[in-house]
Amino acid sequence: MAWKGRPSFPLWLFVFLTLSSVSDSHPQPDRFLNSPSAVRAASSRAVKRASDTAVEVAGYADVAKRIIELAVVGAAQNRSYSRLADFTDTIGNRVSGSQNLDMAIKYMFNAMRQDGLDVHLEQVKIPHWVRGKESAEMIMPRNKSLAILGLGSSVGTPPEGIEAEVVVVQSFEELKRRASEATGRIVVFNQPFVSYGETVAYRAYGASEAAKVGAVATLIRSVAPFSINSPHTGWQDYQDGVKRIPTACITIEDAELMWRLAQRRQKIVVQLKMEAKTLPDVDSFNTVAEIRGWQHPEQVVLLSGHLDSWDVGQGAMDDGGGAMISWEALSLIKDLGLRPRRTLRTVLWTAEEQGGVGAQQYFNLHKVNVSNFDLVMESDMGTFTPVGLQFTGSEAARKVMEEVVKLLAPINTTKLEKSGEGTDISPWMQAGVPGASLHVGDSRYFWFHHSEGDTMTVQNPRDMDLCSALWAVVAYVVADLQDMLPR
Ligand SMILES: *[C@@H]1O[C@H](CO)[C@@H](O)[C@H](O)[C@H]1NC(C)=O
Ligand SMILES: *[C@@H]1O[C@H](CO)[C@@H](O)[C@H](O)[C@H]1NC(C)=O
Ligand SMILES: *[C@@H]1O[C@H](CO)[C@@H](O)[C@H](O)[C@H]1NC(C)=O
Ligand SMILES: *[C@@H]1O[C@H](CO)[C@@H](O)[C@H](O)[C@H]1NC(C)=O
Ligand SMILES: [Zn+2]
Repeated sequence: MAWKGRPSFPLWLFVFLTLSSVSDSHPQPDRFLNSPSAVRAASSRAVKRASDTAVEVAGYADVAKRIIELAVVGAAQNRSYSRLADFTDTIGNRVSGSQNLDMAIKYMFNAMRQDGLDVHLEQVKIPHWVRGKESAEMIMPRNKSLAILGLGSSVGTPPEGIEAEVVVVQSFEELKRRASEATGRIVVFNQPFVSYGETVAYRAYGASEAAKVGAVATLIRSVAPFSINSPHTGWQDYQDGVKRIPTACITIEDAELMWRLAQRRQKIVVQLKMEAKTLPDVDSFNTVAEIRGWQHPEQVVLLSGHLDSWDVGQGAMDDGGGAMISWEALSLIKDLGLRPRRTLRTVLWTAEEQGGVGAQQYFNLHKVNVSNFDLVMESDMGTFTPVGLQFTGSEAARKVMEEVVKLLAPINTTKLEKSGEGTDISPWMQAGVPGASLHVGDSRYFWFHHSEGDTMTVQNPRDMDLCSALWAVVAYVVADLQDMLPR
């Protein structure tokens, strides 16, 4: 997950790119022989009452159970975890513009093909920011090195670095009040963590707000609820017409330290060196895998996670897990010989962390077909123990989904919550397509998010099996119901 809100992006977002399709066809076994859809295909298309929907959905209890068993105790047990471990141990992290991201796309393209899915790539242009070497030293009132991570899109410092006195503030309001003290200084933001959605504003806009009052650089307390002295990076957004100053995140511990020193009226001086720079945009791809629908192949249930990550840790949690369960869901359905009425399409987005760049270009290209998008799904809040599905759609659609999640009783994830969300599906949801996101009951996500701590060690095979099962049941059943979800 990058952030909530709409970053502004330049020209290239609007450049439509050619669709380079290398889709292949593989032999399709007679997949719907043992599918409940064959039975229902002939049934009446009369206007449905709620009770009819309930009966129709309840007819999927058996197939849901088979999917769940395959994922959780059957032959596919631990598979999404093993796939994620192979992938992240082989490739490592995968920041937008990097060779690692190219390798990751090739890896997944080949892996999903070998799995027997229809796979193709769709070309997009993405940002290429490189961190380079970076360091920060507090040199007054005592020497201490500060752990930092430059923020995505930050400019660097001059080669000799920037040495300046520090002013510590706890909010944008305080910065305004003390504007006259900020000139020529490094502004340290020590904002408390309220929630990611709210507090991320400091990471996103801190540099421009500080530059407006004359600061020469900013160091921003990492947006995390918990810390073992680790900085957490992320994208930041310079405001047009405002001087671009270097910006990095520091640890919660160091932000609080400098705040305490400042409270004691001690003079703080920091020396900051960053080689960060932005290179020209590069070509990349959204990776698309499908099981084509037998009756309405043009209608789509979309499952997704993003393949890119930050350039620290392994990107296992954000969002390797979401990408893997979106592949695994298709594998489970294929392995059971199932094929729904509509197409199941897994999209592994590129450059989500820069503000949903791959997803926005996908939307621009495919929005002509918006009326054929039945449901868009995204997992980007971790693949910890699932507690349910978050859903946004009309009341009529919600009624259908309330029946669908009942099929998840065997894994106790029958909660249908409000507010489906995700950077990468939001363009579709704003265009009226029902949207669903995986809700996991774990507050640890932001402990590891965008830090060196985001590794396989955070992941758990059983949790990933449960997430995969939930994802597969919801996608399959919605794709196979007689009617698309009402708008
Ligand atoms: C799955 O992983 C769990 C925990 O690591 C292990 O106990 C179990 O034997 C594994 N199952 C398979 C089929 O490998
Ligand atoms: C602090 O570091 C500087 C070099 O960056 C060094 O010259 C100075 O002696 C150090 N001070 C102490 C007290 O260690
Ligand atoms: C729109 O849908 C039609 C019918 O499935 C398909 O042939 C066409 O390629 C789609 N266009 C885009 C841009 O996805
Ligand atoms: C089912 O999940 C709820 C929370 O969503 C929990 O309170 C309950 O104990 C769980 N039940 C089982 C049998 O795991
Ligand atoms: Zn993410």
